[in-house]
Amino acid sequence: MATSRPPSVTVDVVAGGTKLSIRRRDLEAEDSPIDPCFFDDSYTVAGSTGFLVWEGGWMLIEFLEKHLATLGTLTNRRVVELGSGTGLAGLCAAAHGAHVLMTDLPSVVDEGLAQALLANSSGTAATTTTTTTTTTTTTTTNTATDTTTTTTAAAAAAATATATCWPGARPVGSKGGSACCQALDWTKSVSEQSFPCDPTSADIILAAETVWLKELVAPFVSTVVTLLQGPNHPACYMAYHERGKADSATFATTEDLLAELTRQGCTFNVVAEGIPTRGTIQCAVYSIYCTEASQPAVISHQYHTQ
Ligand SMILES: C[S@@+](CC[C@H](N)C(=O)[O-])C[C@H]1O[C@@H](n2cnc3c(N)ncnc32)[C@H](O)[C@@H]1O
Repeated sequence: MATSRPPSVTVDVVAGGTKLSIRRRDLEAEDSPIDPCFFDDSYTVAGSTGFLVWEGGWMLIEFLEKHLATLGTLTNRRVVELGSGTGLAGLCAAAHGAHVLMTDLPSVVDEGLAQALLANSSGTAATTTTTTTTTTTTTTTNTATDTTTTTTAAAAAAATATATCWPGARPVGSKGGSACCQALDWTKSVSEQSFPCDPTSADIILAAETVWLKELVAPFVSTVVTLLQGPNHPACYMAYHERGKADSATFATTEDLLAELTRQGCTFNVVAEGIPTRGTIQCAVYSIYCTEASQPAVISHQYHTQ
């Protein structure tokens, strides 16, 4: 249970024609050197980063926008975001028409993501029940009644979207997208955290700045590998900014990350790099895939550099 909440500010962003408002911690307004959440039962150093917007988050949003066409559009795709934090990237993907399951540690889901979802969604929770609306045309002749049932294209599209939504998802934006949130802790098995939403049924996996502590690298990669082996052979896009130095015992380096990906049987490519427009630091976006699974479309983009 949280003891006191730190001050926060709103970050506005427009995605898919929809304005989203995200709350992030306001570090400048904090006058105490001690994190106000430090004495919470659920406090962890890793989780404490979930209430800020990170450079990689901006990079991922920009990447998605610039490559929507190559990615084959986000509309009606099931997306799982790992380590969603404030929900910025996940909600942007939903505003572009995707059905997004935003995940993080339980404390971040309860105290940040759930509120971000409520603040940026419209209407009631979508249902996964496949409902097919039919139009009935009745033709009357002298002796018989001929009834023709026509399923309209619009109704079929709506039914597809409804079927693709994650259980309990709420509509986001004007492009038919939706989002919901659920705890997914990389240090636990995915199968024990698969209810009501099963993250292994994703079409696309997203992650931004999720691996900065050495101790998180192996559990994070292991979670990615489990999701990559899902039935839809998802593509995985991870925005990354290196924070570790070679001699650091705490912070992960690019070398640590890439070595672990290789050790766990993944292949990767840098598909974009540079400084995101709303950021200040050099980031990269990697596409990651398992050698047996299909490789995502090759895209390469250089953002502006310093
Ligand atoms: C540096 S923040 C990045 C947040 C967001 N993706 C962004 O770019 O703004 C790292 C995120 O990973 C989450 N995280 C840390 N350890 C985790 C774990 N074991 N399982 C799931 N999420 C974790 C944190 O709670 C936090 O939201």
